[in-house]
Amino acid sequence: MAKKTVSDYLDSTEIDRLMLEEDIWGNKAHAIMLARQKIISSDDLRQILSWLEKALEDYRAGKFKLDKDAEDIHMNVEKYITCGAGIEYGGKLHTARSRNDQVLVDTKMYSRERVLDLLESMISLCQELLKTAGKHAATVMPGYTHTQHAQPISFGFWGSGYASMFIRDIERLGEAYARINTNPLGACALSGTSFPIDREMTSQLLGFDAVHEHALDVTSSRDFVAEVLSCMAIFMSNLSRLANDLVLLTTHEFGMVSLHKSHVTGSSIMPQKRNPDIAEVIRGKTGEVYGNLIHVLTISKGIPHGYSRDLQEVKGPLFRAFDTVESSADMLGQMISKMTVNEERAAELAGGDFACATELADFLVREKKMPFRKAHATVKKVVGELIESKKGFECIEDVAGLLKKQGVNVSIYDMGILDAKNAMDAHNSVGGTSKDEVCRMAALLSAKLSDHEQLLVGRRRKIDSARGLTDSLCRAVIEGESINEMAI
Ligand code: ARG
Repeated sequence: MAKKTVSDYLDSTEIDRLMLEEDIWGNKAHAIMLARQKIISSDDLRQILSWLEKALEDYRAGKFKLDKDAEDIHMNVEKYITCGAGIEYGGKLHTARSRNDQVLVDTKMYSRERVLDLLESMISLCQELLKTAGKHAATVMPGYTHTQHAQPISFGFWGSGYASMFIRDIERLGEAYARINTNPLGACALSGTSFPIDREMTSQLLGFDAVHEHALDVTSSRDFVAEVLSCMAIFMSNLSRLANDLVLLTTHEFGMVSLHKSHVTGSSIMPQKRNPDIAEVIRGKTGEVYGNLIHVLTISKGIPHGYSRDLQEVKGPLFRAFDTVESSADMLGQMISKMTVNEERAAELAGGDFACATELADFLVREKKMPFRKAHATVKKVVGELIESKKGFECIEDVAGLLKKQGVNVSIYDMGILDAKNAMDAHNSVGGTSKDEVCRMAALLSAKLSDHEQLLVGRRRKIDSARGLTDSLCRAVIEGESINEMAI
């Protein structure tokens, strides 16, 4: 490999190019504010805005190429403007700011859009899970603890359980958004500026919810990056559990779920294979996202109070995590929407392995007024003897006989409680697995998702209208109107 030069080593343009549009938008807002505050003239502004528009056009057309010797996107854009408009105009753009606040403007604006895209994917994954929950609210399957049959549940209970979990992830990320969307512009290098800048105006033009006031804090802190990565790492941990369930449920041994043919892979040697590779890769990629979080926390640890170049390195792990997490959520959403549930197999398994033992004990408590501890011991004995004689709960006469041996008389009819579906439906306490409870919870979870969708739409609308405002001011100035007479 060719040896790296210093500029290769320090370069951040490769990752920065993702934020080109944000950088131009940030520049426009800053220039408009400078002119409104009479820090630069209307003429300066017109020149600067025209060249910023051209920079964007040229970049899109592949004519404005980023030069890594210029270090980063900010210097590249400024160089383009200065070359185009001349230093008399372009050289004024960097008044009352620094790259230290500029890099945060770009990173925050890029990240907020990626967070909203990710939230959209998370919401649609939950909607798929709730659709499945509605369809299978009465489809019985075994519920597991220690990966051993525990009690019968419904497939809808299983699916809505994941929706309930992921909605917490949505809430967490939605709260982190509030701490991303604050305006760093005007913090300058670390201490603010002596120019009469208007930070409220740039917040409005850039769609930020508030000014992040403390200049030293904002320029040297990247906790919002660690926070978003923590939210994503926790979400990936939760996603990996769903992925792992799919790996398990689709095995020949479990056989309760079948993935769509577009979501399984074959083997180069074994023709029968239907491997759940997507789910496995999600499990694997979870490690990558944990790594990204640790990467950023380690960069941030012990950093002096004031910008240091180490901070440049947080962008890569953050942006790569956005790609990984969003695509993982999308993949799982697609898998859930196209998978089929083998209801017969699920019902067959649900009835097996004494999954209704607790029901029998509860029955003895309810009908025979036995203390639960005694009922537990009685049923444990019955199960032990059935196992010895290689029988199961389906041999109802044997169950009745074994109970009788212990002095408990039950009619054969009462044994309806040993039916897995009945057992499932009997669990109608708040949050339980009964059909009614699953439908009630699914409706509530769906309503929560609609609220999150509304919030998302509102946040996007705010960003779009700020972009629209900046662009319309920009166009008007280029066409010759005076910025001082425009309503902002
Ligand atoms: N490329 C830098 C980064 O991404 C921009 C800020 C540089 N500031 C400086 N004073 N060198 O963090």
